[in-house]
Amino acid sequence: MQTDRARLRYPADWIRRRENRQPISVLTAYDATMARLLARSPVDALLVGDTVGMVIQGHNSTLPVTLDEIIYHCRLVRRGAPEKFLIGDMPFGSYQADATDGIRAAIRIMKETGADAVKFEGTHPDTLHCIRKLTAQGVPVMGHIGLTPQSFLNTSGFKLQGRSDDDQRRLLSEALALQDAGCFAMVIELCVARVAGEITEQLSIPTIGIGAGPYTSGQVQVSNDLLGLDPDFHARHARQFASLAQPIVDAAGAYHQAVITREFPDKNHYFD
Ligand code: KIV
Repeated sequence: MQTDRARLRYPADWIRRRENRQPISVLTAYDATMARLLARSPVDALLVGDTVGMVIQGHNSTLPVTLDEIIYHCRLVRRGAPEKFLIGDMPFGSYQADATDGIRAAIRIMKETGADAVKFEGTHPDTLHCIRKLTAQGVPVMGHIGLTPQSFLNTSGFKLQGRSDDDQRRLLSEALALQDAGCFAMVIELCVARVAGEITEQLSIPTIGIGAGPYTSGQVQVSNDLLGLDPDFHARHARQFASLAQPIVDAAGAYHQAVITREFPDKNHYFD
């Protein structure tokens, strides 16, 4: 087995990782400060997900996020992490009405942000048509199956996928359709681990799991969950690798105290 972990630059590098069974790590990022920090880490790729709507904008779903907002955040992340493989999420409303809208929106993300790929949710025939046209024109596309948060209203919430035999068959046929449409990788979200593993074995492109267990080709996590930035939110599938919320609250408290006691600014922090 090959052990070098060359930087992911092109879709072919993702597929090589799949062939060599080398896990791929992906994190979301939404701004240049975080991207600059993540650029110093070996994380393989960054995703400007439409989760920006929830973790940054404070909405309770991803539905309100606009194409212009995704473009804005992709630009910030690209500026902070010029070398990382960057994926821009296609927001709700940018491709559901018509495949031509989707193609134009994806091209805007690619042209205006420097992203390396775009990500679509689901496998509606119009979406597959759009993905097929884009990949045929050389635009790298990542798919997304399992839980697709842009349709959470129709699926009655955020539910584990792949429980029944029918559901398993549906997920496998969706995965194969995305591979057939030319996707270079796909996210599998909130899915029974064994099912995500079986899908992974059937594909020649990598699967990137979130809440989909250990048998996918890689993992993606929301960076704010990983860093423990929201003390009021904990998803079962997200491990906190750090707890940064309390240190931020503590630092703000210490600053406040120093201001009201006139201990700050001290002579190191002003100019005579
Ligand atoms: O929007 C997002 O951040 C995503 C990931 C959770 C996969 O789609």
